[in-house]
Amino acid sequence: MEKVIVLPGDGIGPEIMDETLRILDWILERDSDLEIETEEYDVGGASIDKFDTPLRSEVLEAALKSSAILLGAVGGPRWDDLPVNHRPEQALLKLRKECGLYANLRPARVYPALVDSSPLKNERASGADLLIVRELTGGLYFSLPRGIEGAGENRRGYNTLSYSREEVKRITEVAVDAARQRSGRLTSVDKANVLESSKLWREVVVDTVPSDIELNHMYVDNAAMQLVLEPRQFDVIVTGNMFGDILSDIASQISGSIGLLASASLGDSKLGMYEPVHGSAPDIAGSGNANPLAMILSLAMAFRYSLDAPDWANKIEAAVNRVIETGKRTADLAGEGEDFLSTREIGDAVLDELAE
Ligand code: IPM
Ligand code: MG
Repeated sequence: MEKVIVLPGDGIGPEIMDETLRILDWILERDSDLEIETEEYDVGGASIDKFDTPLRSEVLEAALKSSAILLGAVGGPRWDDLPVNHRPEQALLKLRKECGLYANLRPARVYPALVDSSPLKNERASGADLLIVRELTGGLYFSLPRGIEGAGENRRGYNTLSYSREEVKRITEVAVDAARQRSGRLTSVDKANVLESSKLWREVVVDTVPSDIELNHMYVDNAAMQLVLEPRQFDVIVTGNMFGDILSDIASQISGSIGLLASASLGDSKLGMYEPVHGSAPDIAGSGNANPLAMILSLAMAFRYSLDAPDWANKIEAAVNRVIETGKRTADLAGEGEDFLSTREIGDAVLDELAE
């Protein structure tokens, strides 16, 4: 029996998770080869409210023993004033770190039917299809020392950006594998003109990438510019934690809506965490109009990378594709004054397509 840990979280997290679980249940009813059991827990702000901590140790323990974690979103204005290490986001960061999920895959592509939703001109956006491989358990997010200290005019906050050879090597290897399954092109993004950690990064990338992969390097500021100027030049991008955080938000908008972007966080074992790239969207939470597709596509990635069921991954992705191609839209994708469907209606549409 494989265990899937379900962490709906905050804001729109529970709403989009509901639709995703309906799809999972539908599949489990039909495929007797799949032996999957789910366990649901509070996480993030929801957990702070009930248990005074964003991630209980029993939740982490359950996660460590599972095959896959499905996570909705965490955070919201209610918890914004808490100190950094008590905030809902800590749940995410701790899960990533403790579960050893160092490789974050964030695919972004422009669906032909949605090219008009992209803020880029059609001729720039059309055909863009890239994958950001973001290092997830090191770099500026985790390096020590870090802290905030002193008082008044002497108050000072600081973080450290450090990468070891091993950390860069293993994320590069993930990116190389991904590039091989795509077009064989890899762009490594750093800031080697300024940062020592980036100099090391580049050195290790050069040592690690084999000659069958077409490798180029780009400074992060230029990469941000190139993403909006000519996104089609990219296939796989590999980069550090902080740069990847920023570039993946930019990449998500190219596709028209961050509401479409799924992600997988992987390590050396089968265990992976699957979550949308978007956040908890407190402004629309409870409206019933959130876009569940990024969460649903994250379930597809779970089938592919953790649950040994790539066929279901393909079927879910194909169903989502058809929902989009047939013009069904949630509010985030509808044009001004255009009709849109609710979260539930889009979930229904995906189920209908799956049933076809
Ligand atoms: C993301 C998010 C997180 C991050 C936050 C919520 C901690 O922005 O997954 O991109 O910075 O990694
Ligand atoms: Mg982010």
